[in-house]
Amino acid sequence: MKITASRTSLPEISEDVLIVPVFEGDSPRNSDSSPALAALDHLTGGAVASLFDDGEVTGKRDRSLLFHNVGKFSTRRLLFYGAGSADKTDSISVARLAGGAVRVLISSGGIRSAAFLITRRLESHACVRAIVEGALIGQMRGELYRNKTEPDAEIESLDLVSELTEPTDFEPAIEVGLAMAEATNFARELGYEPSNVMTPTELALRAQKMAEQEGLTFEALGEEEMKRLGMGALLSVSRGSQEPARLIVMSYEPDRDVGTANPGELIALVGKGITFDSGGISIKPAARMEEMKYDMGGGAAVIGAMQVIARLRPNVRVLGLVPASENLPSGRAVKPGDVVRSLSGKTIEVVNTDAEGRLVLADAITYAINKGATCVVDAATLTGACVVALGETRAAVMGADQKLIDDLVEAGEGCGERLWPMPLDKGYGEIIRSDIADVKNVGNRTAGSITAGFFLKHFAGDVPWAHMDIAGTAWTENEKPHIAKGATGFGARLLANFVLNRATN
Ligand code: BES
Ligand code: MN
Ligand code: ZN
Repeated sequence: MKITASRTSLPEISEDVLIVPVFEGDSPRNSDSSPALAALDHLTGGAVASLFDDGEVTGKRDRSLLFHNVGKFSTRRLLFYGAGSADKTDSISVARLAGGAVRVLISSGGIRSAAFLITRRLESHACVRAIVEGALIGQMRGELYRNKTEPDAEIESLDLVSELTEPTDFEPAIEVGLAMAEATNFARELGYEPSNVMTPTELALRAQKMAEQEGLTFEALGEEEMKRLGMGALLSVSRGSQEPARLIVMSYEPDRDVGTANPGELIALVGKGITFDSGGISIKPAARMEEMKYDMGGGAAVIGAMQVIARLRPNVRVLGLVPASENLPSGRAVKPGDVVRSLSGKTIEVVNTDAEGRLVLADAITYAINKGATCVVDAATLTGACVVALGETRAAVMGADQKLIDDLVEAGEGCGERLWPMPLDKGYGEIIRSDIADVKNVGNRTAGSITAGFFLKHFAGDVPWAHMDIAGTAWTENEKPHIAKGATGFGARLLANFVLNRATN
């Protein structure tokens, strides 16, 4: 989708459709509303006002009406799309409005180009960015392998039309929105791919292709190298599989002439890259096991975030790491009760082979610290307990550094990927004490997300670290007005936003 900004006057808009956002209480007769509504009413000889008067256009969230061939326009259609309450306008509601409108147009068919009316309420940088993100994310579908009789309906161009006589420059917001949305859709594509395609090797290849295109340094460690380094925790997970594990390493360096604000600073982003989680010997029940292809959602978020960072070039060094592996049972697989030695030297009793994410993350976090990371943030579809606690709406965040947690929460609020903090008191650590090793990889039935986080804390040591459990937010069970069901790409925008904020502060 090509995105442009223009000041075309309403009657001259020549796209297939003009999208008109409507907030609750808006009406052509109400002077608080966008002046464009009165103008549209005038151009349609009163038809628009009667749609409002008769209650067909109300501004209620996600209610829409497509209106054809009326009045003195170059465009043939008007799409009124309900934006909900104007007091609650934020990046989530605005992205939802744009995504919902695009999805209505795609399903109605025959529409290739659209104009979007940027009303006064939507003219901020944050709103324009959210509109671009929502529109692109709304356009993507997950049917990667469906044979099609006809090509997908697609909106090829979206022109943002301002109703102001002197509109602000939308270009910077469009650039950021595009980078964020393309990275999110990239992360979603990785998540949609089935595990027979998206093996650790394939995940590394896709990351490599991106890194080469965007100018990031790339490396993927193989099992030999990991063995040499002593990554016993990561390798214990891949043992059961025929597919070799990979540690994907992407590095970003700011342009030399800009100079870094803090040259010693190195932010490490670490994403769980389990391309299929069967549970291993502690095998999962069959019901919904197919969903475990998206157990690399944290890794996808990190790869997506690195793409944004490469494009927008913040003034700080960033290391993106994705420990990628399958988790399968076999005669070689790690077994409950086995003890493994991690890269950090700490020994781990593997009580449950289905708690594999924390094992691969442990070694990746140590690797990041050995590379000089001054701050580590990990994202992982780590626990079913997190899905129970927070559902699809918010991911959990926990860590050892309050400033880091606060910055992540703020980065999430800024892009509509919301977090909620969980505690990591010492008492939770007692639950994962092992009788035979330094730590065990599962606790009891209580506080499952927190004990998983506590396990990771052992490997972060004194380095500022935070963990995001995205098990509930990485995948959406049902089709939504603004986004297809399936992979959400959650975390790509949040992590990128976090890094961009760090670089400017
Ligand atoms: N990948 C799962 C967590 C998960 C569950 C993600 C549902 C998305 C949806 C993880 O590896 C896992 O199996 N966790 C176990 C931990 C347990 C054995 C302590 C879980 O949550 O049951
Ligand atoms: Mn598991
Ligand atoms: Zn898992």
